[in-house]
Amino acid sequence: MQRRDFLKYSAALGVISAIPGWPGSAFAASFQALPIPNLVTADAQNRLLLTIQAGKSSFANKTATTWGYNGNLLGPALRLRQGTPVTVDIHNQLPEETTIHWHGLEVPGEVDGGPQGIIKPGARRSVTFTPTQRAATCWFHPHQHGKTGHQVAMGLAGLVLIDDNDSRMLRLPAQWGIDDIPVIVQDKKFTPAGEVDYQLDVMSAAVGWFGDTLLTNGAIYPQHAAPNGWLRLRLLNGCNARSLNFATSDKRPLYVVASDGGLLAEPVKLSELPMLPGERFEVLVETRDGKPFDLLTLPVTQMGMAVAPFDKPHPVLRIQPLRVVASGELPDTLVNVPRLPALEGLTQRTLQLSMDPMLDMMGMQALAEKYGEQAMAGMHHGSMNHGGMNHGGMNHGDMNHSMDFHSGNRINGKAFDMNTPGFAAAKGQYERWVISGEGDMMLHPFHIHGTQFRILSENGKPPAAHRAGWKDTVNVFNARSEVLVKFDHDAPKEHAYMAHCHLLEHEDTGMMVGFTV
Ligand code: C2O
Ligand code: CU
Ligand code: CU
Repeated sequence: MQRRDFLKYSAALGVISAIPGWPGSAFAASFQALPIPNLVTADAQNRLLLTIQAGKSSFANKTATTWGYNGNLLGPALRLRQGTPVTVDIHNQLPEETTIHWHGLEVPGEVDGGPQGIIKPGARRSVTFTPTQRAATCWFHPHQHGKTGHQVAMGLAGLVLIDDNDSRMLRLPAQWGIDDIPVIVQDKKFTPAGEVDYQLDVMSAAVGWFGDTLLTNGAIYPQHAAPNGWLRLRLLNGCNARSLNFATSDKRPLYVVASDGGLLAEPVKLSELPMLPGERFEVLVETRDGKPFDLLTLPVTQMGMAVAPFDKPHPVLRIQPLRVVASGELPDTLVNVPRLPALEGLTQRTLQLSMDPMLDMMGMQALAEKYGEQAMAGMHHGSMNHGGMNHGGMNHGDMNHSMDFHSGNRINGKAFDMNTPGFAAAKGQYERWVISGEGDMMLHPFHIHGTQFRILSENGKPPAAHRAGWKDTVNVFNARSEVLVKFDHDAPKEHAYMAHCHLLEHEDTGMMVGFTV
């Protein structure tokens, strides 16, 4: 069935409106249909066009200036084939510099779109690469140093889907926008006039920028009318800083079939799926009983993220099954995920993440002043409780002079320096990286360019089953995590790869290091 016919059919059944709202929520009884980004494939010359542009979007009856790729907000989903080259022609129509980074793609540093891949306002850049990696759901977003948080908050993000023979052989739900749906979840904050209210300041440099409005593909608590059977959700946590914890309103299980870099060996059944900023998981959920339910995000333990309305389960997406039968299935086994190679004798590197203690303290102080003790719920800083800390004789003015938050976050003692790569990794060699974030109580979703890695340990524990496959982001939360990386492409000094915290305000204020291959 074509998507258009399907939508007509859903409208005829009356499921697009008049479904009662989430009990106890402030949302009205009418739902917006889940916006589905266009699925775009390259033309006969293997080319794709991305125009980065400003536009307008409405949220809750107010209009905001937003940025998008080929549109007003977010971007298309680009479908690439393993082994087929693609050229992306990029035109920056924004009034400022930006880059397009291919998050999760194993492509050479030259075309990776990190902070050195700057496209000036009005300028064009074409990048050509051939995806050689496994089928996966990846994404693209800006990586302009010091501005990434702002540019993503303005709306710049899109998906990249890679197909391969394995993914085509499996009978997973694959009808785009019908039973194979993208779910890009982002929180935002708006000014009283309705504009995106972004600040990079002491508070956001410490805990990240977060908001009180949750958007799913750019819409507030939308609804998707799904066929009856198996529904595939391609989840992206596209938030600047907020970790999410997905569950269903009626406790029906989530079957995880893929992580950041590809399919798992077999589905993993979960009742809750925590997701860090930058992460993707593909999940199957059964809709055969025909009952409507919600995809929710449950409260998380992260500094600042328990502020209302996220102190309670929050709806993300209403799913309304129809009587149309879906064709996909949940296989018992998926793909071969290779065993880990022997770890003896590998090069080991340690990346020590740290926050200037003054920034940490001032950030906590600002958070407590703005949101009260609630913001610190469940969070304690060793024996100190920042919420109760007084100024200790210093006023804000003094503290502001003593610390520049723009370089308040560091890796191995240094804030990001575009001109000085931190180290050189050897091409084609496994390396064991230890990422340590001991001592600050901050969440660091740590991401590495140019590779899909394997998690050896995550905060001192073996990875959960659904996090043991291909990943590009690992959780570092007041502990150390170890990953096994390998880089198969070059990254010269002028186009170094990046390793950084994907809490975008940590990244923008220095928690990033460049490296060459
Ligand atoms: Cu998603 Cu270096 O970023
Ligand atoms: Cu990346
Ligand atoms: Cu961080």
